[in-house]
Amino acid sequence: MLSVPVLTIDGPSGSGKGTIGQAVAKSLGWHFLDSGALYRVLAHLAQNLNITDDNLAELQELAQDFEIQFMPQDGAPPKVIYQGEDISNAIRTETAGEMASRLAPIPEIRQSLLQKQRQFRQPPGLVADGRDMGTTVFPDAGVKIYLTASPEIRVQRRYKQLKDKGFDVNLTRLLDEIRERDRRDVGRETSPLRPADDAHILDTSDLGIDEVVQRVQELVAEQA
Ligand code: DC
Repeated sequence: MLSVPVLTIDGPSGSGKGTIGQAVAKSLGWHFLDSGALYRVLAHLAQNLNITDDNLAELQELAQDFEIQFMPQDGAPPKVIYQGEDISNAIRTETAGEMASRLAPIPEIRQSLLQKQRQFRQPPGLVADGRDMGTTVFPDAGVKIYLTASPEIRVQRRYKQLKDKGFDVNLTRLLDEIRERDRRDVGRETSPLRPADDAHILDTSDLGIDEVVQRVQELVAEQA
């Protein structure tokens, strides 16, 4: 039996993974997994339940138990629904992002979220966006993309995204946070952020969204 095709898009925060991944998923008619949202939901729930990042047993239990749904939206990122509640904005705050980045290095937590991520591999195909989609979660993916961009460009993109959502943000602090998060994502021992050996590396610093989407579509078409 042929396995369900997967396109993985990995890269640091602000490299354009989400925007590109959603556009390509839409054009292919495939499902889309924002794996960072799973880490953020876990962080958000842990914060609400006052579970600190050193309480491994409760975090693991929570990571295995929670269920969320992604509701596709026309022209906007999918809504993240937890127990009937729209928590899309709550998980995008810098506090949730910061806690997610502290939970992400913990091997037991990554292991607990592994099956959840693989369950999104459903026909006709999946576009999976994250940090370790091509290296760990879907190592057999047919096409693997690794997006990069300079920290300055990425911070501008994040700044705009957060401003558009109505969040009050400080550019200098955001740049510091992005650098610190990169350091943690790249430096952790379990599934660090790095391109898979067979990934196509695209620097998006000077490319528009349409150009990157087209390049990714070409790579998918070449592989089919
Ligand atoms: O992409 P994002 O900013 O929403 O991700 C939130 C955090 O989760 C970020 O610190 C990196 C981590 N993450 C991860 O370790 N592995 C993934 N596959 C996705 C996200």
